[in-house]
Amino acid sequence: MKTRILKTTGDDRAGSIRTAVKLLAEGEVVAFPTETVYGLGADAFNRKAIRAIYKVKGRPSDNPLIVHIGSLSQVHPLAATIPIRFWVLAEAFMPGPLTVVLRRSPALPRYLNPGLPSVAVRFPRHPVARALINEAGFPLVAPSANLSGRPSPTRAVHVLEDLDGTIHAILDGGRCRVGLESTVIDLTGRRPTVLRPGVITVEQLEKVLRTKVGLARQTAKKPRSPGLKYRHYSPRAELILLEGKKPEIRKALKEMSGALKGKKKIGVLALAGYTRPSERLDFFSLGTTGVEGAARKLFEGLRELDRRKVDVILCPAFEEEKVGTAVMNRLRKAATRRIRV
Ligand code: TXA
Ligand code: MG
Repeated sequence: MKTRILKTTGDDRAGSIRTAVKLLAEGEVVAFPTETVYGLGADAFNRKAIRAIYKVKGRPSDNPLIVHIGSLSQVHPLAATIPIRFWVLAEAFMPGPLTVVLRRSPALPRYLNPGLPSVAVRFPRHPVARALINEAGFPLVAPSANLSGRPSPTRAVHVLEDLDGTIHAILDGGRCRVGLESTVIDLTGRRPTVLRPGVITVEQLEKVLRTKVGLARQTAKKPRSPGLKYRHYSPRAELILLEGKKPEIRKALKEMSGALKGKKKIGVLALAGYTRPSERLDFFSLGTTGVEGAARKLFEGLRELDRRKVDVILCPAFEEEKVGTAVMNRLRKAATRRIRV
């Protein structure tokens, strides 16, 4: 199968979206941009299309899919009941990088996330995503458009790296603005709980909901979000996360690269403020705008250092507050080793 890249700028947009909608209506999967990461979309009410998603990604069958809607009214047929907290969150953050877990409607087809009492719903902001869902006229299930276990794609070329020849088309919407997957919040329990941290932070959610919001432990043996138990976001290189205070991390970066030099090709993934310990290293800068900017470039950096064929990536940790919580969540899952300095 030849994978087509469909442009979405200028005069090309309408035709590209029409092509993608036609494929989706035939039960095919199509990759498309969202503001967070690229998604691999399929008709949420087509059994064959859903099966294709799991096959193409190599995704474990017990990892459920998020249902993407193009307008808030599309939430009604998905959920059994819609708590007021959903509407409060919608008012503040939708469309946007937030996914809400609700009790599923008994009318939902069984092949959609079988055995789960809940359904995850997201209303993306990206104009191409919205146009696609609205012209299709049905909601789309859309996991991140990477092979299972690899870093999520934030550019069309990343999707191509993983899925060339296995899907018909990729809608190219340029770089994703957010760069990390959506915050997932569960509203099915008594206390709202964040299952996956993202750029919409626990603090922001608490402010809007006017109540305490939990953060699910990511290491739990039986995680509440099934996707959490798998190793994730992994580059092919070994990823060493250096955790501690900044001056100690700087020192550790220097010493580790010294120790590895000559044996391995070393990459460093860090904010521009970290000086390159040696000219011979491959340095991928996470930018100059702090952790928000780093969030945007994190997955791209992991993929880029793989492309340069480094053996080891050294990565200074971020403070676990605000967006740093989400960045560290992804880095911990990607890391092969964590060193406290
Ligand atoms: O930003 C995003 O959310 C992207 C874009 C494409 O929208 N999508 C995405 O999908 O990240 P995926 O499949 O890669 O991650 C979905 C996460 C998984 O951890 C999954 O286990 C969890 O959401 N999830 C889905 N349905 C759930 C449910 N009913 N209850 C709990 N967790 C659920
Ligand atoms: Mg994913």
